[in-house]
Amino acid sequence: MNIIITGASSGIGFEAAIELALDSKNKIVALARSSDKLTKLLEIAKGINPDCQLYPVAFDIVNDDYQSLVSFIQNTLGQVDILINNAGVLINKPFVETSLGEFAQMLESNVLGHVNMIQHMLKLMPTGSHILNIGSMGGFTGSVKFKGLAAYSASKAALHTLTECLAYELGEIGIKVNCLALGSAQTEMLEAAFPGYESPVLAFEMGKYIADFAKTGHKFFNGKILPVAVTTP
Ligand SMILES: NC(=O)c1ccc[n+]([C@@H]2O[C@H](COP(=O)([O-])OP(=O)(O)OC[C@H]3O[C@@H](n4cnc5c(N)ncnc54)[C@H](OP(=O)(O)O)[C@@H]3O)[C@@H](O)[C@H]2O)c1
Repeated sequence: MNIIITGASSGIGFEAAIELALDSKNKIVALARSSDKLTKLLEIAKGINPDCQLYPVAFDIVNDDYQSLVSFIQNTLGQVDILINNAGVLINKPFVETSLGEFAQMLESNVLGHVNMIQHMLKLMPTGSHILNIGSMGGFTGSVKFKGLAAYSASKAALHTLTECLAYELGEIGIKVNCLALGSAQTEMLEAAFPGYESPVLAFEMGKYIADFAKTGHKFFNGKILPVAVTTP
């Protein structure tokens, strides 16, 4: 399968990329801004599976030039079967202290960057392909909410609704769109959101789950926001 995953330089995305790279038939383009961490990702993936086809690309989903990315993907993958929009950022700040600029930053990174990516990759995605957005229980309607996470959670809620809308609209061309609303997994972002909290789910476990769901979930789900949570947070 030909796969793009964003946010592959750390945490869950890093682990999902490693999991996908275990299958030498998969061709994976792994995106994030930190080229040094992506180099490490490639080293580790090659160490585990020397035949893996992993292509790291330093790319900012908010600010970088999509035309050159599209050309690279066309040349490397040809078509895209799975797009995993996993990149994300978090601000932990009381609502009254959060500036409009910080709200905008959350929306740019957690929603508009993914919109941009989807719009540019759609032309390379055939009928039967899968777009998987990585949401959060913070943005899940009716879930417990936490102080300091208003901007982050609101941006994730927007991503959830975008998922539902796209599943309907892209249904015409046979593309399935789902969203996994994650509870917690032990990463730097979790530490920023809940300092000192220890998640019962490790990053590699969540990464494996996401990799598996990306490959098979669209056979059973479309337009769904699925909670992936054993605890709150
Ligand atoms: N961990 C949890 O408990 C938890 C819970 C709910 C939801 N989630 C969601 O799961 C996803 C992964 O989170 P994580 O915990 O693994 O966090 P993480 O370790 O902080 O990883 C975030 C990733 O996103 C990348 N990224 C951020 N902005 C980017 C941009 N503009 N362009 C390209 N890449 C960008 C980062 O790489 P660079 O800095 O190198 O660009 C990094 O690879 C996020 O969407 C997060 O909201 C996580």
